[in-house]
Amino acid sequence: MANRSTRVEAIDMLKQDHDKVEKAFKAFAQLAREDAEACRDLIMSVCEDLKIHTTLEEEIFYPAVHDAIDDEEIMNEAAVEHETARMLIEQLENMQEDDPNYHATFKVLGEYVRHHVGEEENAMFPAARRAGLDLEALGARMRERRQELAAAAPARGEALNPRGQVAAKPRQTGAADRSSVRGR
Ligand SMILES: [Fe+2]
Ligand SMILES: [Fe+2]
Repeated sequence: MANRSTRVEAIDMLKQDHDKVEKAFKAFAQLAREDAEACRDLIMSVCEDLKIHTTLEEEIFYPAVHDAIDDEEIMNEAAVEHETARMLIEQLENMQEDDPNYHATFKVLGEYVRHHVGEEENAMFPAARRAGLDLEALGARMRERRQELAAAAPARGEALNPRGQVAAKPRQTGAADRSSVRGR
């Protein structure tokens, strides 16, 4: 994400992430399903971006907003939505790309994320602004944490094998034998 400014306030940063994944979900809709490698790359890239984004929100942004606005409901709903998104991301990470539900799962994730983003941008973020949070300070902490998370994430080139599949994860039983890990 091109960002020349060294000071990006928290909400602008989160919205940039939202725009980025929304574009990716739209791009996915245009991708030929037969291009399994491109589909897999795009899906894994969105999953990585979403994991970093939700971690930044959960570790830094949400706690600050929670303390600043008096609205348990909005914060609880967001937490539940993150949990559901996390489950879908995990499913995608462990699915074979020829699983009949693979693309559908990603589409559902997109619908879910869109709904969640709408609530953040239309309700939570305006409330956070009204509460007078120090968004620049939060943005600085988030930028720093983002760099750590990005450094810890598997490099995309390493995570994908030449067919664009994520390397089988050892925690799956029989992961070395691809024929035994298909289907969920
Ligand atoms: Fe969120
Ligand atoms: Fe968000």
